[in-house]
Amino acid sequence: MVAAQGAARILVASNRGPVTYAVDEPGGELRSRRGGGGLVSGLSAIGPDAGAVWVCAALGDGDREAVRRGVHEPGSRMIAIDPEVFAAAYNGIANSVLWFVHHLLYQTPFEPVFDEDFRGRWAAYETYNTAFADALAEEAAEGAHVLVQDYHLALVPTLLRERRPDLRIGHFSHTPWAPPDYYRLLPDDVAAGVLEGILGADRAAFLTRRWADAFADCCVRVLGATLSADGREVTHRGRTTRLGVHGLGADGDFLRERAHRPDVADRIARLRAETGADRRLIVRVDRTELSKNIVRGLLAYRQLLRERPQWRGKVVHVAFAYPSRQDLAVYREYTEQVARLAEEINAEFGAPDWQPVLLKVDDDFARSLAAYRLADVALVNPIRDGMNLVAKEVPVVSDHGVALVLSREAGAFEELGEDALVVNPYDIRETAAALHTALTLPDADRAARTKRLADAATALPPSRWFLDQLHALED
Ligand code: G6P
Repeated sequence: MVAAQGAARILVASNRGPVTYAVDEPGGELRSRRGGGGLVSGLSAIGPDAGAVWVCAALGDGDREAVRRGVHEPGSRMIAIDPEVFAAAYNGIANSVLWFVHHLLYQTPFEPVFDEDFRGRWAAYETYNTAFADALAEEAAEGAHVLVQDYHLALVPTLLRERRPDLRIGHFSHTPWAPPDYYRLLPDDVAAGVLEGILGADRAAFLTRRWADAFADCCVRVLGATLSADGREVTHRGRTTRLGVHGLGADGDFLRERAHRPDVADRIARLRAETGADRRLIVRVDRTELSKNIVRGLLAYRQLLRERPQWRGKVVHVAFAYPSRQDLAVYREYTEQVARLAEEINAEFGAPDWQPVLLKVDDDFARSLAAYRLADVALVNPIRDGMNLVAKEVPVVSDHGVALVLSREAGAFEELGEDALVVNPYDIRETAAALHTALTLPDADRAARTKRLADAATALPPSRWFLDQLHALED
């Protein structure tokens, strides 16, 4: 336990911070790049004078160089963890073990391997979580509120409570939570360690009731914890943690304004030149991420073109698949698989004046918004997803109404299911049929659905999501 020494009254901890830095050569100039996402806009809701500090990890050489030079965003603290420890914790545990478990991604040939090497990476994950707990304990004022984010930092709540029992601690999971039978493929001590780490919080919160319930089930089955009659409190070893649910919606005001700037208009013109002015567009925008199910999306589109020749030449699948987690071989292979399949479809059906799949892998936010505005159909078919904000963003900025094909395994399904065309993400035939239905939806029906989708999607803007968590921690 350390005495309160910091001044921060509100703290946020996440692996990825508000800004990343790059440097071209040693001693060269630092270039910063600002990220988006719920936390950035959520934090802006409390204003610059709230005494908030955001603790995050230095992700690469540029970030570490920024830490060395003492460069940081106001109100943020970046922790420079030994690069090998960071890589083992982030790539080796968070992204290839915990992410895989919660998204049910283990399948041949990507099977779980719990060997000596795994144990080394697990130790790194503990070190990395400890570094966060130390930094938070240093920065926090007496009785401060701390919001710890996501599966990277599952051990932080308990480690922080050991150091600073005076703090109010919340943990928020942005992912789904695995059902107990699947979760228990983790080694027993690791499965228990992650749950007990989170249970160090006063509140453990999730994007949907479904994920909160799965977490509770795991606590009962793995730890023998007890669950209150209403299912909202887990008690383990004499401590009680409240479970919360905070859906995260799209930031409607920001998106509508951003989507009408000149750079987006420019991308619209360019996209239209590439796809042809009159063709219908089936749009998807994702990180190139196994859980996003991009390959099955392409297979469904191929099936649509095979079985319904009337669409040939009339439709383009605009697939933006931005590089993600490329340090992991399975992500690199997945990226290649996506590109190969897109090429195959183009070779099978393409004509001199028609490219059936337009795959783009260079990240360009303005171009994503352009595609959102133009989309006739949005394809959001993840195997599993904590929420999925693309499903919420497209209807908000759509120019002429969009039909949403949505996986029932996305958290967003709970809020958008009624006005979407819902699919089982594994069922390629059903997805192909849903694409056809989406393309043929009468204009009035599509417009009415889009309006309802946009209303539901913006009901819980990031500012509200953030403030709700904070207020709930005060109770
Ligand atoms: C998910 C996780 C976030 C993560 C993001 C991007 O949304 O819940 O915590 O930041 O993916 O992944 P990356 O590994 O690039 O941070």
